[in-house]
Parts: sequence; C-alpha cells; structure tokens
Amino acid sequence: MALVLRPSVIIADEPTTALDVTVQAEILDLLRRCRDEFGAAIVLITHNMGVVADLADTVAVMYKGDLVEQAPVEEVFATPQHDYTRKLLGAVLRLGEGQERRSQATLVTEASSSPETAEPELAVHAQDLRITYPGGLGKPDFTAVDGVSLKVPAGKVLGLVGESGSGKSTIGRAVAGLTPVASGELTVLGRSMAGARERQLKKLRRDLGFVFQDPASSFNPLLTIGQCLAEPLIVSGEAGSMNSARARVTELLDAVQLSGAFADRFPHEFSGGQRQRASLARALALQPKLVIADEPTSALDVSVQAAVLELFQSLQREFGFAAIFITHDLAVVDLVSDQVAVLRSGQLLEHGPTDDVLSDPQDPYTQRLLASVPIPDPAEQRASREAS
Ligand SMILES: Nc1ncnc2c1ncn2[C@@H]1O[C@H](COP(=O)(O)OP(=O)(O)OP(=O)(O)O)[C@@H](O)[C@H]1O
Ligand SMILES: [Mg+2]
Repeated sequence: MALVLRPSVIIADEPTTALDVTVQAEILDLLRRCRDEFGAAIVLITHNMGVVADLADTVAVMYKGDLVEQAPVEEVFATPQHDYTRKLLGAVLRLGEGQERRSQATLVTEASSSPETAEPELAVHAQDLRITYPGGLGKPDFTAVDGVSLKVPAGKVLGLVGESGSGKSTIGRAVAGLTPVASGELTVLGRSMAGARERQLKKLRRDLGFVFQDPASSFNPLLTIGQCLAEPLIVSGEAGSMNSARARVTELLDAVQLSGAFADRFPHEFSGGQRQRASLARALALQPKLVIADEPTSALDVSVQAAVLELFQSLQREFGFAAIFITHDLAVVDLVSDQVAVLRSGQLLEHGPTDDVLSDPQDPYTQRLLASVPIPDPAEQRASREAS
C-alpha cells in the first residue's frame, strides 16, 4: 500500500519484524527495487543489524532519544564510535556461534560423565500428530498440523522453526492442552493428550510453563505483575495467600533480573524486554518440567534479546527443564537449542540435532531459510549480491 503512488520517500518502521527470513529477504529486495527503479529514498527503522547491513547506505543510531552516531554503513560496522553502537554490534547473533559453545559444553560433560546408552526419557512425544481448526458454516475443517512426529527428551531444548502460519504456535498450544488433538498420539510428561480430561490437564499444567507469543496481551491488565506471578502459586496451593506468595514473587523477579519494586507495577508500565522477563518468571513460577516459549524475543532489540536469551539458557541449565523454543530466527535456534524441527504448512520437513540441521540442511526450504539469514556485515552482503 505504501508503494502505490510511487513515493519519493518511504518510511519503513520495522517492516520485517516477526517475519521469517525468507519473507524478510523478499521485502528487503522489494525495497531495494523501489530505490533503484524509481529512485525512492528510504528511512528504514529497525533493531535488526543484519537488515541494516543488507539495505542501508548510512546508519543513524538512536539512544535514549538522542542521535548518538551517524555515518556510512561500512564505517559504523567497522569502527563504531558510541558505546551503545558497540554493544548493539557485539550482541548480534551469528550462525555458528551456538555450535562453538555447544561443542565446548560437550567437552566438559563428556569428560565428567560416562556415556549414556539407555533411551532418554521423553518430555514430549508426538506421533503422526494432526491438529485441525473448525471451518466456518459448511466449510471443511482446516488442518493446521498434519502428521507431525517429534521428540523432546527430558531436560533438552527443541527449537521449532518455520515460516509464519506453519503451525508452530498450534503445536505449542496442543502440547499445553489448550488446543485439542484431532488424531495421532501426543504424550506430554508421560500423559496422553488425546481425549484427556480437564482434571488430568490441571495436574499437567502445574508442570508446564508457557511464555506466550504476545506478552503484552497475556497478562491481566487489571493486576500488578506481583499479583500475576502470585496467581499460579495460589491456584496450585503452593501459597496460601497473597501475603505468603510475596517472598516467592520477589525471588522469581530476582531470577529474571527485575528488582522487587517491579511487583507493584502494572503490565503496561513495563518495557517490552521487561515484560518478556516477567513472562518468563511467570512461566517458571511452579518450577516446571517443560517450558513452551513462543517467540519470546522476536519483538526485542538485539541487546535486550541477547540478555533474555542468556537468562533463558542459564535458567534452563539451573532448573533443567525441557523446552520447546518457537522462533523464526535461526541464529536464536543455533544459540539455545539441542534439537531443531523445521515446519512448513503444518508438515515437518526436518528434525534432528541442531549442528546437523544447520550445517547440513537436507530440505530445500531449510536451505533457503539458512541462505536468507541476513549477515551482519555490509561488505559481505554487497559481495554476495554482486556475485549473484
Ligand atoms: N483459531 C484458529 N482458527 C482457525 N485457523 C487458525 C486458528 N489459529 C491458527 N489458525 C491457522 O492455523 C495455521 C497455523 O497457525 P499458527 O498460529 O500455529 O502459526 P505459527 O507457525 O505460529 O505462525 P507465526 O510465526 O505467524 O506465529 C495458520 O494458517 C493459521 O491461519
Ligand atoms: Mg505463532
């Protein structure tokens, strides 16, 4: 719509946030063509340094309302002047870093424990899972998840990736018992979800933490964050009253690096990153065995994203919960997950150890996803465009 009248200036405010990288690459190409074909100037507002490197000629960096730096893109990436710019660039995730970290971690564990041969205990086991949404009057049901089989071993993290609408959140909701299973088998923490009764689900939900895709709307706006965090403690009987929940709430806020004073604020008084942390705290309130995190960092700038991811990892190591980490960002998957599953149009294209899938993707869609990850380096971007 913004392009209809062939404008001479296009202002694009986070045009690709929450898109998977293949669609993101198409949008960036479109913007580039507008620039080249009818000479449009573009003001691109983004927190994604890969996108900046891909499209921008000059970069202006804002910090707390001030313009702290402005220079040609190559200069900003090569010799950033301001501390915040350096922090932004330092926090950019690159593919391959997770692999390095993982191999170091394996070295440590291999030296200290003997190899396990037994089949690992599974937190989630889906076999030929199908999930449908009812169609409208006279319309057939819509199959959102079609014959998916996957496993999440206890204490391990599965990265669930795929383009928008591929069925990621639907799987997450089914695992939590929020969406019914149409056919196939779904076992979560040893309980079968197909035809499960609400009473059985109640027990399961105690062991399950959910970080919703949109934390702005998943907190009750009428309760303070302290009350939101106390609620699961009281409902589960863990705490007898608001007062006795108080100490645990402070502890939880502390675990996600928010000061106890935040307990008295309402959800809208938090920044995006703080709300994500509060959401993580709520998911961890009852020390779950399984956490489902649905795009917990997609709306955050890279420095906040890095902090939230680091926190997620350290909490995961400390509490040892299994997790399904839903994201469209492969660099995030690379960092946090042991296993990856790639979805497309409700079907599972690929499922295996993160290193294998990312270094040797078998399916053309996964290969395209990997090839479309914007490299946070303007010189490399230019070179690869000229080569193609
Ligand atoms: N309540 C619903 N009723 C009907 N169809 C739905 C419903 N919720 C989701 N869908 C459809 O099911 C499919 C999968 O949706 P889902 O929310 O699981 O996608 P996703 O992979 O999480 O996407 P995104 O990355 O955009 O969050 C989509 O085609 C969507 O339009
Ligand atoms: Mg989703």
